[in-house]
Amino acid sequence: MGNMDTLLRLQHVNFLRGGNPILQDVSFKTELGENWVILGPNGAGKTTLIAILAARNYPSSGQAEILGQQLGTVPVQQLHERVGLCSSAVLRVIPGAQTVKALILSAAYGTMVRGRDQDFEDIDYQRRTNLMELFGVVSLQDRKLITLSDGERQRVLIARALMADPEILILDEPVAGVDLQARELLLSALDELSSDPKSPQIVMVTHHLEEIPASFNRAALMKEGKIMANGEIDRVLTSENLTEAFSFPLKCGRSEDGRWWAHAQ
Ligand SMILES: Nc1ncnc2c1ncn2[C@@H]1O[C@H](COP(=O)(O)OP(=O)(O)O)[C@@H](O)[C@H]1O
Ligand SMILES: [Mg+2]
Repeated sequence: MGNMDTLLRLQHVNFLRGGNPILQDVSFKTELGENWVILGPNGAGKTTLIAILAARNYPSSGQAEILGQQLGTVPVQQLHERVGLCSSAVLRVIPGAQTVKALILSAAYGTMVRGRDQDFEDIDYQRRTNLMELFGVVSLQDRKLITLSDGERQRVLIARALMADPEILILDEPVAGVDLQARELLLSALDELSSDPKSPQIVMVTHHLEEIPASFNRAALMKEGKIMANGEIDRVLTSENLTEAFSFPLKCGRSEDGRWWAHAQ
């Protein structure tokens, strides 16, 4: 057993696809109280990495420990209930013709899909209301998922991922392709969420420093299947490290309110 406060731990993880190394000797650890952003150029291996962290994929070699459980030694459904994942892969398996309110509620018991109203309790409905309020989707509750804009859909999917009360929430590019208002709505909801000590640890993949919620305190930079740097966000997100990770001269910084920016040097 590791440290009780360690939530995710990868040790010397390799991942191969068609003989190609996609992840190489990745070691990485998250602890209670940390919210992580994972940054890196296209193809760096971010999505592959979080699929392992979310118990949706197995390493080719090395160890992955999720909430104290060794991946591969426990039924993955147990881990799926405890680690929420929100990505475009999840979207593909969600019935788009369901209403927002039904979709969110149906995730209350993780992969144990329940469908009928009598399967749910008062606290489930209360939780759904709280989540719909936090993510600003109350007015969308009777709409079908397929009729929503990208930004609205993202907020619904995150509320849904939180419905099972996971200990970790993993987000893969949650604001990719959404407009400025939708981005800011989502980031402020994530900030509010992360200020509550009962909330899950958040691990978020993004390409843009402007998309990092101000309250996030840890960062991992990926390049070519490796973690180039990780740890306290202010130490990791430096102009030097970003220039190295993106192979392009970049300058970054933080404004007074804690938000990050980056542009060419
Ligand atoms: N199923 C697959 N088969 C072969 N190569 C893949 C597969 N999935 C991803 N890759 C490759 O692995 C690398 C990392 O992909 P990915 O984890 O999606 O990166 P990122 O999310 O950082 O853009 C890329 O070069 C991609 O082409
Ligand atoms: Mg990706």
